[in-house]
Amino acid sequence: MFFKPIGSNIIRLNDVYSTNNYAAELLNQTNLPNGTIIVSERQTKGRGQRGSSWESEPGKNITCSIVLYPNISIDQSFEIIMMAALSVYDLLNERDFDPIKMKWPNDVFVRNKKVAGILIENSISKGKIQHSIIGIGLNVNQTSFRNDKAASMLQLSGKEWDLNQLLDQLLNHLNGYYLKVQQKQSLMSLYEEKTLGWQKNRTYITDSGREFVGKIVGYSADGGVKILSEEETKNYQFKEVQFVI
Ligand code: BTN
Repeated sequence: MFFKPIGSNIIRLNDVYSTNNYAAELLNQTNLPNGTIIVSERQTKGRGQRGSSWESEPGKNITCSIVLYPNISIDQSFEIIMMAALSVYDLLNERDFDPIKMKWPNDVFVRNKKVAGILIENSISKGKIQHSIIGIGLNVNQTSFRNDKAASMLQLSGKEWDLNQLLDQLLNHLNGYYLKVQQKQSLMSLYEEKTLGWQKNRTYITDSGREFVGKIVGYSADGGVKILSEEETKNYQFKEVQFVI
């Protein structure tokens, strides 16, 4: 047995604007133990990537944030993203969801529907991650979404799922991958083959609106993606390119 820091301190809330914001505020006021998790039944202002909002009906889904002090440099920041995405992947895989794809950097799709989203906010000083707030939203028992690209585990399987059991197992997976990250074992080879567009042609759009077809041939340790198109192989950062889905 190994010590499982993630989830060793659990803060349960009924109502909060965003578990990520709440975690950041707590960190400003106090020293939270490594691996503290904040779970809320309801978020009134759940946040997504690229300034979007995160839709989640009260009591139906998992919305949580984990605080870590991972002691790694910013060049390794992608390990944290992969750790979260792989944990969600495993959770779904164990329950026979298929096919599951992670969409770079950290969305999780089942049969082309987004089941989970991850929002990681790092505080950086002297080239190192001081703390990382890992926000995870997993759609579990919700039966309809405004966003037609989203779906829940219930919608995809026809079954209701126990939120506490799912959270426990999510924490187990996170602890397992976190141990690897601490031991400096990269998660890259586990991650890349499970990603959408890996070695397969797809359409992308750049931040300047240029559409092109290419295949993902690599990810970089700092979180970039390497796409091979007819003209070139190019590295992109998160804001520079998006999938056309
Ligand atoms: C995405 O846009 O895909 C990321 C969504 C992240 C949602 C989670 S829910 C818990 C945590 N708190 C937030 O406000 N956002 C994240």
